[in-house]
Amino acid sequence: MHVVRTPGSARAIARTLPRPLGFVPTMGALHAGHLALVERALSECAAVAVSIFVNPLQFAPGEDFERYPREFEHDRELLAEHGVSLLYAPTVERMYGPGFATRIDVGPLGTRFEGAVRAGHFGGVATVVAKLLGALEPTALYLGQKDAQQTAVLRRMVSDLDFAADVVVAPTVREPDGLALSSRNAYLTPEQRAAAPSLRVALLAIAEAVERGETGVDRALAVGRARLRSPLTWEYLALVDPRSFEPCTGSIVLPALALAVVRAGTTRLLDNATLPAPGEADPILTPPRSNASFVAR
Ligand code: PAJ
Repeated sequence: MHVVRTPGSARAIARTLPRPLGFVPTMGALHAGHLALVERALSECAAVAVSIFVNPLQFAPGEDFERYPREFEHDRELLAEHGVSLLYAPTVERMYGPGFATRIDVGPLGTRFEGAVRAGHFGGVATVVAKLLGALEPTALYLGQKDAQQTAVLRRMVSDLDFAADVVVAPTVREPDGLALSSRNAYLTPEQRAAAPSLRVALLAIAEAVERGETGVDRALAVGRARLRSPLTWEYLALVDPRSFEPCTGSIVLPALALAVVRAGTTRLLDNATLPAPGEADPILTPPRSNASFVAR
């Protein structure tokens, strides 16, 4: 596995790798959710590149940038064992050198929900992913459904800015009790951890209510709202359009996405559940494919 630190060396090595080239961007502290993306990319591509970069641009002041877990040596070993060809781990100084000024404005999608609570977050995500795509020039960009709004923002950006990468979205990997894996789960106290699966229970209750014929947004959300266990509290819970993230009001229109963040003390837990239209594919996930099916662009 090549380990590189600068965009120039990332591009030089990436250009020697066979196509299709899959790319999995991460902030490190790798868990089974990240590794499932790596495995999906390995199964669909001829080579895989991974980035590890805790991106200061997407953290607001007072968020956990400083204390975000950093486990570079362990991550490096895991990626090498999995058969990743290229690990790109730039420094903050190299990514955002003196005079750095360009930001991607992701439009209204970036100002709702996570974008409203975390001002500037999606602009920071889009800017760093644009830089990473520019350095690695991959065939496909692999993202996790857990961060559904991030996938929508990045799909929009890749399409709007003509990046030559297909966006592939893979399912959320969960603990056996349903809690979505997240590097931030390490912050939970035992009491918060015990209550955490109730977020998933609440989202599934909403999806089940709609499947059983519930058509009212408020009534469906109320079914979910009642399922959250103390000491967790709701930050937001909504039914949204899976592309625009505009909230559904009144009657439910499918496909929809049940979207939530709960608070456990200062820790935020994020999850979602898709509500596909009857007989249609999941509105967020990308079906698995063979590497021959990537179209050169
Ligand atoms: P990070 O939180 O490290 O996540 C990297 C990728 O792993 C994202 O696509 C995320 O959706 C996915 N992921 C996280 N938890 C997952 C789970 N339980 N199951 C499946 N996939 C999961 O998301 C970021 O980093 C950053 O914003 C980044 C895109 C790297 C830009 O800095």
